[in-house]
Amino acid sequence: MASNRKLLVLPGDGIGPECMSEVMRIADWFANYRAVSFDITEELVGGAAIDAHGTPLTDETMQLALDSDAVLFGAVGGPKWEGLEFAARPERGLLRLRKEMDLFANLRPALVFDALADASTLKREFVAGLDLMIIRELTGGIYFGEPRGIETLPDGTRRGVNTQVYTTPEIERVLRVAFDLAGKRQGRVCSVEKANVMESGELWREIAQEIHDKEFPNIELTHMYADNCAMQLVRQPKQFDVIVTDNLFGDILSDCAAMLTGSLGMLPSASLGAHDGTGRRRALYEPVHGSAPDITGRGVANPLATVLSYSMMLRYSFDLGEDADLIEQAVKNVLGGGLRTGDIMQPGKAKVSTRVMGDAILQELNALAA
Ligand code: IPM
Ligand code: MG
Repeated sequence: MASNRKLLVLPGDGIGPECMSEVMRIADWFANYRAVSFDITEELVGGAAIDAHGTPLTDETMQLALDSDAVLFGAVGGPKWEGLEFAARPERGLLRLRKEMDLFANLRPALVFDALADASTLKREFVAGLDLMIIRELTGGIYFGEPRGIETLPDGTRRGVNTQVYTTPEIERVLRVAFDLAGKRQGRVCSVEKANVMESGELWREIAQEIHDKEFPNIELTHMYADNCAMQLVRQPKQFDVIVTDNLFGDILSDCAAMLTGSLGMLPSASLGAHDGTGRRRALYEPVHGSAPDITGRGVANPLATVLSYSMMLRYSFDLGEDADLIEQAVKNVLGGGLRTGDIMQPGKAKVSTRVMGDAILQELNALAA
């Protein structure tokens, strides 16, 4: 169906394509029954692109991403490409997309579906009802800082270097996203760094406080060291509403938060750029889980994180909140009905394949729309 909304789909490697095919069926459903359609282009990324083109992301695909209204991403990486030199690895494709699209704000919700509260490794009472949002700075910090590299010293030993670096504008813009979002939630932001040992953290804390005092005085702001935050996340996760932090701490803390929910296979994410003045903002949506080579090709992967990434896209890029709600309700109902993929399997529930999970979501969408 013709549409002026351009969507680039990059299924990638491992379980990425399996999960993405379920989402494409859901996209068809929305085109047919809700008149929500996209002009969809599918391309290769990661290992798949290395095999076909010798690079994890071609310049053509990069340009397509820049010209799209949104990018839907699966996963990249796998044992086949692990021996490659760092700059040629599948992950570089994703990092290039983030950097060149300038997707500085990475939203990683950790939401516990009631039906899955027992799937967490933490006791139910600590996680039931959990709904926290980690906002990870995504285009700066140690991931991209210079100098970087491995050098051989005159005595023959080697030295590996990475640089943690943040400028005030980089800190300001991600903090603004956090305060903004908190205003639509419980109104609390916890800003996380290591101001006790890192100058970049000291600056981060100062700027966070400044932006708060000047622009968002009605939002509650607290500061926390990253190590303490890791501990608090497993001790009392419900104390948090929005956590905002740098690229590396955000990478680590969001995996930790994800596990609180019982399954990485459930969690979507959004990576957003700045508004461009026409109301448009670059965006990429991806599940938090990786390519899961151990279960690839067996049809058992949990497609729900990719499904929920699609729903985040409807909400954040296209302002289709009602349609996003519909997907989220369908997911809740299917889980409530007892269907589980292997990663979230519990005693007494029905273990189903990727495809059957996709079927169940479609059936539920039909029921909800009837
Ligand atoms: C993530 C992943 C990536 C990262 C890898 C695949 C480069 O762990 O999205 O959290 O470290 O940012
Ligand atoms: Mg990670």
